[in-house]
Amino acid sequence: MAPAKVYGVVTFYDLFHQRPVGHHRVRVCTNLSCALRGGNEILAAVGGKLGVHEDEVTADGRFSYTHFECLGACEQAPMMMINDRYHGNLTPDTAAAVLAQLETNLDTDLNKTES
Ligand code: FES
Repeated sequence: MAPAKVYGVVTFYDLFHQRPVGHHRVRVCTNLSCALRGGNEILAAVGGKLGVHEDEVTADGRFSYTHFECLGACEQAPMMMINDRYHGNLTPDTAAAVLAQLETNLDTDLNKTES
């Protein structure tokens, strides 16, 4: 198989990675609706809170983050997705607070639906 075909598949599907990712994957939407409402500031806040650059993994292996195209929840802009859970109407402070909650609660299951 041609390397270009492999590269095309790996870069198209979000479940394939070209480098290690954290246990908790943070995707910050920076597409139009989110960008207009501060998505890039959320991205910067997440990076500041985690202390790593985009696409790097924290030293404990728990987190990595990246910017993302529209996550289909524009009505919640600006928003981010951690694993399979959406967090919307964020500010830099509330984004950092979500991450702080995860850092202090090692057993938090982000994929569990709140009731
Ligand atoms: S632009 Fe961010 S969810 Fe659509």
